[in-house]
Amino acid sequence: MIFGASGDLTKRKLLPAFYHLFLLDRLPTRWAIVGSARTEMSDEQFVEQAREHVAEFSKQGVDGARWREFASHLSYCPLSFSEPMAMKPLVEHLERVDERHGTGGERFFYCATPPSAYADIAHRIGEVGLHQDAKIVFEKPFGRDLESARELNARIHEVFDESQVFRIDHYLGKETVQNILMFRFANGMFEPIWNRRYIDHVQITVAEKIGIEGRGAFYEETGNIRDMMSTHLFQTMTFVAMEPPVSFDPERLRDETVKALRSTRVCDPSKVVRGQYRGYREEPDVAPDSTVETFSAMQLDIENWRWAGVPFFLRTGKALKDKVSEITLKFRRVPFDVLKGTGYELGKRDHLTIRIQPNEGITIAFNAKKPGPEMELGRVTMEFDYAEDFAQQEILDAYELLLLEAMEGDHSLFIREDAVERAWEILQPVMEKPPPIVHYAKGTWGPPEAEQLIAPRTWHLTGQRDAADIMSGMFRIPNVAR
Ligand code: BG6
Repeated sequence: MIFGASGDLTKRKLLPAFYHLFLLDRLPTRWAIVGSARTEMSDEQFVEQAREHVAEFSKQGVDGARWREFASHLSYCPLSFSEPMAMKPLVEHLERVDERHGTGGERFFYCATPPSAYADIAHRIGEVGLHQDAKIVFEKPFGRDLESARELNARIHEVFDESQVFRIDHYLGKETVQNILMFRFANGMFEPIWNRRYIDHVQITVAEKIGIEGRGAFYEETGNIRDMMSTHLFQTMTFVAMEPPVSFDPERLRDETVKALRSTRVCDPSKVVRGQYRGYREEPDVAPDSTVETFSAMQLDIENWRWAGVPFFLRTGKALKDKVSEITLKFRRVPFDVLKGTGYELGKRDHLTIRIQPNEGITIAFNAKKPGPEMELGRVTMEFDYAEDFAQQEILDAYELLLLEAMEGDHSLFIREDAVERAWEILQPVMEKPPPIVHYAKGTWGPPEAEQLIAPRTWHLTGQRDAADIMSGMFRIPNVAR
């Protein structure tokens, strides 16, 4: 049951994801999808709209017979959530669906509406008793700040038990993000150096080339810190920073992600940059004097034995130079420069980069002696590429994977209430006292203030590295391996 069935998320992600899962025979044996929104619409109109969206946004395309079979499981029930007992028509609708599809009253609700509707939806569902044994998914952001997140959790818990609640963050559905756990905890090699003794700092970049794409009203209300930083970047950071869980039981895993957030010091607004791209204020539905950020960067400090003194630098923004999401761990310099006095230079510090997207994979970059009589160093890399190494493997889209997990009731990749609240606690100072907006040109890597934030270190991006290294004259022969 999708609430917010005429919204952007349903069109772009949910319907294509359900369709692909259907094509892969991954949906339960008996199933039906009911869309719901305020707009009056017949089942036929909903199916027609769904076909258009799936045709536009699904990689699979809509094939005749298979599509017709999928479409025969779709129906629509117009609802407004604000009135008491508003869900009565839904009860009757679902009874008919159960009769037709044999779905036996097992309910899976997805709230793809603006977050302001979540509490009402939960209460309306409860009023008509549809909450019993149901599962419910909430899209991010969950709340606007600490107080509203606490209140929302409390209101939802008046109806749903935490075990029924799935707070989704699609970054945790990305293979490359999940692989952080396997990379760290299924290999003997990396975990021993994954700490303050060997790592100088950690960087996480989630850069987007697109601007706000007509979502002015949403962005004005949300801003980049709520949309991206409090969610995707924080969750990714917890996977990098967490301690090994005692098992992969969902609760034990989530205990560790929460612990990582608890160890993260509440942010210092003087270490936060809020940027806005030039031209944002001219976008539709944006205030001409808007101070909403489309870019943010911050330094976070994790205070525990593993990470004390290792800053985590996070940055994310719209209308940047490229679409790229990466995590880089830069290692400390060697304690003693063996090349000192020889006229040769040590290269840059070695690092490990996890490419979340695109070109999913992992790079380890280090210095190596170039063949020849001189003691010159060149930069070399060891690469793992998903596309090459798992070429035969079907990679599910993040939403597909998370829908499957939630339908199966596995909470591992969903955010627990204490994690949501702690994330807001960390961000509270910046919510209360946001630093002033600085502007940046579209198609750049954001405002210069973000470079100052990380200085004397620099932001790393795989694609930029060669050019930067060569320009800085780091190597005598520029033609080194990537
Ligand atoms: C969404 C944000 O959660 O993530 C969008 O609301 C953003 O603003 C999107 O564009 C980015 O996701 P991805 O998977 O394309 O990196």
